[in-house]
Amino acid sequence: MKIYFAPLEGITNHIFRNTYNEIYGHIDKYFAPFISPSGKCPITPRERKDITPENNQGINLVPQILTCRSDCFIEAARDLHEMGYSEINLNLGCPSGTVCAKGKGAGFLPETLALQKFLDDIYSYAESDNMKISVKTRLGYFNPDEFYDLVDIFNSFPIHELIVHPRIRSDFYKGEPRKEYFAYALEHSKCPLVYNGNIFTCKDYDELLSTFKSDPDPIMSGRGLISDPSLAEKLKGVTTKTDFMKFRKFHDTLYHEYQNIMSPDINVLYKMRELWSYWQTLFEGKDKDIKRMLKAKKYEEYDEYASRILTDL
Ligand SMILES: Cc1cc2nc3c(=O)[nH]c(=O)nc-3n(C[C@H](O)[C@H](O)[C@H](O)COP(=O)(O)O)c2cc1C
Repeated sequence: MKIYFAPLEGITNHIFRNTYNEIYGHIDKYFAPFISPSGKCPITPRERKDITPENNQGINLVPQILTCRSDCFIEAARDLHEMGYSEINLNLGCPSGTVCAKGKGAGFLPETLALQKFLDDIYSYAESDNMKISVKTRLGYFNPDEFYDLVDIFNSFPIHELIVHPRIRSDFYKGEPRKEYFAYALEHSKCPLVYNGNIFTCKDYDELLSTFKSDPDPIMSGRGLISDPSLAEKLKGVTTKTDFMKFRKFHDTLYHEYQNIMSPDINVLYKMRELWSYWQTLFEGKDKDIKRMLKAKKYEEYDEYASRILTDL
């Protein structure tokens, strides 16, 4: 079974990926949060720093592009090819209001004619540069039944992998994924499929196995792997339990890595707060200490509560 780490903008950056890969591993591919090329600049210095192979050693990384302009996509793709990448991903799933208003991400899905032209252009480019392009999509923008036409469109392109997050734009990341539409894709898609959405536990994965006629493999997880970093090990049968010593090492490494590159204290603490919003579920009964820790404005306060939470396990 293959497991892909989903991109989460603001969280799964190169610091997070390197730390995760060193301490946990068992991830077959990491997808980088999107880069959004504009006519003026295909890849900003900040985006470049995150995806440069130098900062992602030993990691099987797939950069992701978010755009509805094929010229911008191709310019960024050429740049990524020069950096050494032979596989990139197109984002057709981002539900954010500002992104969709510009016809990008999930906002590109209803524009089926423009989408076909865009895919024509980028797959012609892909052939010339020997580049593999995968697609990460939702079911549709307004209605999940848009997916039937989208599958027909995707079937006419050499999509390296089609990652399906079975929700529509207005679902954002809430509610049950509409798994019956992934079942439809399993029967009708010519592209290799990857399932993505709400895999938080081994039980969630087992439920997927019993839902579909054929096993979904690979699968992609984002919030599940962040919330329980040992999920990949558990899904692959390497372990059955969460190892809290390992978790502590993961926490401490991330915390120190962020301290090395960010200041003042509060900026690092904002980063940690975001991570703890996922980790809280691992620490039942420690809500009060976590709440106090999340209010910390200085390292000393944070350290006091963090060590209380992380040592007494
Ligand atoms: C905070 C946040 C940031 C995200 N950023 C990206 C992104 O940059 N590119 C992308 O394709 N998906 C992005 N996603 C969507 C995730 O990759 C994934 O599809 C979604 O969380 C559902 O999978 P999960 O239930 O395994 O987390 C983001 C989701 C969240 C919650």
